[in-house]
Amino acid sequence: MSEPVEDPDIVSRRIARESLDRDDPTGWFERLYSAASEGAAVVPWDRGTAHAQLTEWAEESQPSGAGKSALVVGAGTGWDAELVADLGYDTTAFDISPSAVAAAQRNHPDSAVHYLTADLLAPPPEWNRAFDLVVEIYTVQALPIELQPAAIKQVGEQVAPGGALLVIAAARPDDQPDEDVEGPPWPLTRTTIESFATSDLHLIQLAQAPSPTDPTILRWRAEYLRD
Ligand SMILES: C[S@@+](CC[C@H](N)C(=O)[O-])C[C@H]1O[C@@H](n2cnc3c(N)ncnc32)[C@H](O)[C@@H]1O
Repeated sequence: MSEPVEDPDIVSRRIARESLDRDDPTGWFERLYSAASEGAAVVPWDRGTAHAQLTEWAEESQPSGAGKSALVVGAGTGWDAELVADLGYDTTAFDISPSAVAAAQRNHPDSAVHYLTADLLAPPPEWNRAFDLVVEIYTVQALPIELQPAAIKQVGEQVAPGGALLVIAAARPDDQPDEDVEGPPWPLTRTTIESFATSDLHLIQLAQAPSPTDPTILRWRAEYLRD
């Protein structure tokens, strides 16, 4: 008789929990992507297509990326980065997990996107204020709440003067205490979404919409512009 195969979904959750219990809040991403590449786990957020709210934003805003640069944060397997590149942006997409970067390159062999491994919490200094568009989807919420302010600061720091930032994240009520949130993920309150803004990075649009697959989950779509 063959060994029973463990449910890849359960494996994914166990990998996350083991890392977090060891006080290693980002180590589980590499372990998860690496296990997934061998079929032993699933990457729960890998949609096989661009995020619906990114697609919606692109259709509404019709941005022209010609001659402009974009940075996709925590790019995972690359579907959002590919959409951004299709808009004409010279696109850089990074992830902390080398196996995620390898999967993105495997998924999109003819891609124009520059995929690379980097840590949002310590990004290359040459990225500072260098990108006309920064896209952040679900990376900040994948980090424990105490790491989110540093991650949020770094997301905003990469936006060039005159550039835009798009943030998509799961939402939670402002009055839900942090200690009641059993992540990952740790969805963002309105106050946290507002904290991406600084004296020269302005929140210009904020919308909340239910997830099409689970209407009990609300998601933010926020857009910011740098002076
Ligand atoms: C919840 S997933 C979302 C992936 C992708 N943005 C999406 O929406 O499908 C979070 C991603 O962020 C990456 N990540 C987590 N911490 C990071 C960090 N400090 N720097 C760069 N990437 C990070 C993970 O490896 C993972 O691919």
